Amino acid sequence: MADKLKVSIVGASGYSGGELLRLLLAHPRVEVCEVTSERFAGKFASKAHPNLRKRTQLRFCRMDELKPCDLLFLCLPHGRAMEHIDAFRALAPRLIDLSADFRLNDPGEYQRWYGKPHARPDLMTEFVYGVPELHREEIRGASLVTGAGCNATATILALYPFFKKGLADPERTVVEVKVGSSEGGNAASDASHHPERSGVVRSFMPTMHRHCAEIYQELGFGQTIRVYFSATSIEMVRGVLATCHLFLREPLEEKDVWKIYREVYGKEPFLRIVKEADGIYRYPEPKLLSGTNYCDVGFQKEKGSDRLVVMSALDNLMKGASGQAVQAFNLMNGFEEALGLEFPGLHP
Ligand SMILES: NC(=O)c1ccc[n+]([C@@H]2O[C@H](COP(=O)([O-])OP(=O)(O)OC[C@H]3O[C@@H](n4cnc5c(N)ncnc54)[C@H](OP(=O)(O)O)[C@@H]3O)[C@@H](O)[C@H]2O)c1
Repeated sequence: MADKLKVSIVGASGYSGGELLRLLLAHPRVEVCEVTSERFAGKFASKAHPNLRKRTQLRFCRMDELKPCDLLFLCLPHGRAMEHIDAFRALAPRLIDLSADFRLNDPGEYQRWYGKPHARPDLMTEFVYGVPELHREEIRGASLVTGAGCNATATILALYPFFKKGLADPERTVVEVKVGSSEGGNAASDASHHPERSGVVRSFMPTMHRHCAEIYQELGFGQTIRVYFSATSIEMVRGVLATCHLFLREPLEEKDVWKIYREVYGKEPFLRIVKEADGIYRYPEPKLLSGTNYCDVGFQKEKGSDRLVVMSALDNLMKGASGQAVQAFNLMNGFEEALGLEFPGLHP
């Protein structure tokens, strides 16, 4: 058996950190050395993640107790990774940051969407945007990789082939995402209080969602584009469903759309085109993707108009966060891309 890489997780008591721990404990080429939490320091990891009982005897340590390792995963709230980035880089030669701190490469765009200057603009272009379907070769050679937003991942993967080929009207694409409660992390808030959250269909970001910045960055291909993006919380713990209305610049038929998706995504291990003529699961369904690293993409072309509706679904904690981070980790280390990500999901 080849040597195992020593990795640690910062912010491991949270939802994305817990999901990463679940994946990495089962990864054949990884030894998880340390997991941090300020709140749970000294306590067993299974205290925060009861699904991991009998899977690990690791205890949380504080961030300032971390020892050097081969690669550090950062699962901290927004702003914390950039605050401590020099200390993290001193601990590990390679980092994967799941937060939004290093997703953008333009300080002006960061200021526009996050409302304040970036603390480390010198490092913004150093991180590779960790969506393998778009940046596989760059990820392979990278030592600094950033995860992507979960809603951004769903939207970008739905639209990417059409923006890349210049087939989408750059001025008008409309996206509505429906999201589960775990997107908000495990810190309690008024909005997450069960009587206030359960059963709602709540428009929480009709405009100006920060993930738009990533969508513009990744789909612009050198030109200004407009994506009208809205987000709604629904009754779901995990999952994102993006419904994207794009307007075609050329008269394409459904068979042409099939061909384009097959050409771009045919060899992708975690992209599935889901479009069936009948049955109850004709289009992507987040429920089926819980715990998996798949992003399912389906579509319908409207007859007699230029509108193409693309639906994409994923698990926000997997392909939208920790699963995609492990996929990038595998690429960075020359491992088989799907290693540790084989779970096919549950039905029903
Ligand atoms: N949830 C998602 O669906 C999702 C998807 C993609 C990306 N992300 C990104 O991933 C990051 C983590 O998200 P999450 O949902 O896992 O959040 P979370 O559940 O709230 O977890 C946050 C983690 O950070 C730690 N932490 C909080 N404040 C800290 C501080 N000041 N110093 C050190 N540690 C601190 C917490 O540990 P303590 O026990 O010490 O409080 C906890 O382990 C965020 O930046 C988020 O944007 C999340």
